[in-house]
Amino acid sequence: MTQPALENIIAAVDIGTTKICTIIAEVKDKEINVIGVGWQENTGVVKGAIANINETTIAIKKSIEKAEEMANVKVQSVIASISGKHISGIKGHGETTLSHTKLKEITEDDKNNSIRAATSFFRPADKEILHIIPMQYIVDSQDEIEDPIGMTGMKLEVDTYIITGSITSIDNVRKVIEHAGYNVVDIIVQGVASASAVLFNDEKDIGVLVLDIGGGTTDMIVYYKNAIRFAKVIPVGGQLITNDLVSALQTPKNVAEDLKRKYGIFTGEADEKDETITIPDMGSSKTMEIQLSKIAPYIKLRVQELIKFVKTELEKDGIDRSLYSGGVILTGGSALLKGIDKIIKEEMDLRVRIGVPLKEKVVGLYDIVASPEYATAIGLIDYYVNFQIKSQKTKIYQGIFEEIWNSIKKFFIDNL
Ligand SMILES: Nc1ncnc2c1ncn2[C@@H]1O[C@H](COP(=O)(O)OP(=O)(O)OP(=O)(O)O)[C@@H](O)[C@H]1O
Ligand SMILES: [Mg+2]
Repeated sequence: MTQPALENIIAAVDIGTTKICTIIAEVKDKEINVIGVGWQENTGVVKGAIANINETTIAIKKSIEKAEEMANVKVQSVIASISGKHISGIKGHGETTLSHTKLKEITEDDKNNSIRAATSFFRPADKEILHIIPMQYIVDSQDEIEDPIGMTGMKLEVDTYIITGSITSIDNVRKVIEHAGYNVVDIIVQGVASASAVLFNDEKDIGVLVLDIGGGTTDMIVYYKNAIRFAKVIPVGGQLITNDLVSALQTPKNVAEDLKRKYGIFTGEADEKDETITIPDMGSSKTMEIQLSKIAPYIKLRVQELIKFVKTELEKDGIDRSLYSGGVILTGGSALLKGIDKIIKEEMDLRVRIGVPLKEKVVGLYDIVASPEYATAIGLIDYYVNFQIKSQKTKIYQGIFEEIWNSIKKFFIDNL
């Protein structure tokens, strides 16, 4: 019989464009012991956004149940992922006076006050805050402070990066999890999660660009000096490459998908053989022969186009190369495309590596999840455990709700 979940059991559901991936883990001392994995294909998500509530609900239920069966536990609540081009980031600045007359030691409350001040300008009706990331604190005139607690000063300032999503899309994520019969503990942006799973601390510090290239989206994250400085979702992923091969070769979709996965991009390296392969024709029993070097340009063009979009987004936001001089980390299923690292290295002129969930973070079923396709699901747990639990988000919201509640109380008191 399936056991009810223990206290230190955490479940995460990555709602991807091609699949719903659930991880159930026992978490002790921030180490993720994977005990259950559930994988369910789904077509109810389009370019990262939920387009069919019913279909996605069923897929989520199946995915979680598979993981529960493997883990032999029954979970009630899950952390869910979110993506889609509605995800955006803005910079915020907040300050709080510590004292007007003398130096005061900075406390957790002061930190929260400064962050709350940085979010106070943010009031659009159609957006919700998903992450508030402190980029640096400034105590009086000293900047670049990572944690000001224990320091003394008269004024505390903070520069934040605030990641938001559309209320409708966030609500859809809540709906599909709840309709499937589970509670939502938290919602984390896919790129934020993936970066958390695959990056080494040194990379987060020196600065890197993470590209989670999935089936329907490419989630971009720039980490610099241990904080996220940029988040963006481009609605372009591996599905487009498969579709291009279907139309270029006039072959069925499953054949194009297999071809892409098996051969990737023929780059002409000495150890590569320009094989001639036989593939079926679409809609007839005929077959045709094609050389790998003839297929490569179609795939290469899509990757080059994607990198053009990536560069445009970085430029639009003024993200200079110096912020990601540590290179590009590719993750997501399309990072498995043979030769993609070489093409991206050429296009970006930077170090490129393929990111999988780091071994030091995961125990248990590491061999199963040691793939770029699991970066988001593992990252959901990793980010939640390391940042979100103690993050400002809940406290800030409490603060905002308190503010609203106090103003309602004040209104009634004033109008008595
Ligand atoms: N070996 C491989 N070679 C090339 N592409 C691959 C390989 N394995 C998987 N893919 C591609 O990876 C994509 C799926 O990746 P992933 O599981 O990260 O997507 P997702 O999370 O469902 O979608 P998204 O993150 O875009 O919402 C598919 O387009 C698939 O074709
Ligand atoms: Mg994904």
